[in-house]
Amino acid sequence: MSGRGAVRAAALAAFASAALACGGGDEGAGLDAAAARGKTVYDNVCTACHSRDPREDGALGPRVAGASQELLEAKVLRGVYPPSFVPKLPSAAMPKYEYLAGSMGDVAAYLATIPASP
Ligand code: HEC
Repeated sequence: MSGRGAVRAAALAAFASAALACGGGDEGAGLDAAAARGKTVYDNVCTACHSRDPREDGALGPRVAGASQELLEAKVLRGVYPPSFVPKLPSAAMPKYEYLAGSMGDVAAYLATIPASP
C-alpha cells in the first residue's frame, strides 16, 4: 500500500467509527446507528399500542421483540403476515404505516437487539 493509501484508509476508519458513535444520542447509547434509528421510530410510533419494552405485551399490541424484517414489512406496511406465520393475536386492529417503508430495516435491527422471551 502506498503512503497515501494508508492515510486514506486511516481517515476512512476514523470516519466510520465516528459515524457509528453519533448514531445514538442518549437513549440509543450502546446501539448501532440503524438500531438507534429503529428505536426512535418504535418509541415514537409503535408504543402507542405496543409496550415500550418490546418483550412485554402492550396496551393493544402484543410483544414484538425479535420480530424479523419480513414480518415487519408485511404487518406494518401491508397489514398482512408472512406465509405460515402464526400471529399472536387473531384481531386485525393495527393500521398500516406505509410511510415507514424506509424504516423497517432499522426497526428490525432494533428489535433484533432484544431477544424474544421464550
Ligand atoms: C394503533 C395501535 C398499534 C400501533 C400504533 C402499532 N401496532 Fe403493531 N399491532 C397492534 C395490534 C392490535 C396487533 C395485533 C394484531 C392486530 O390486531 O392487527 C399488532 C401486531 C403487530 C405485530 C405482529 C406480532 C405477532 O407476533 O403477531 C407486529 C410485528 C407489530 N404489530 C409491529 C408494529 C410496529 C413495528 C409498529 C410501529 C411501526 C406497530 N406495530 C404499531 C397495534 C398497533
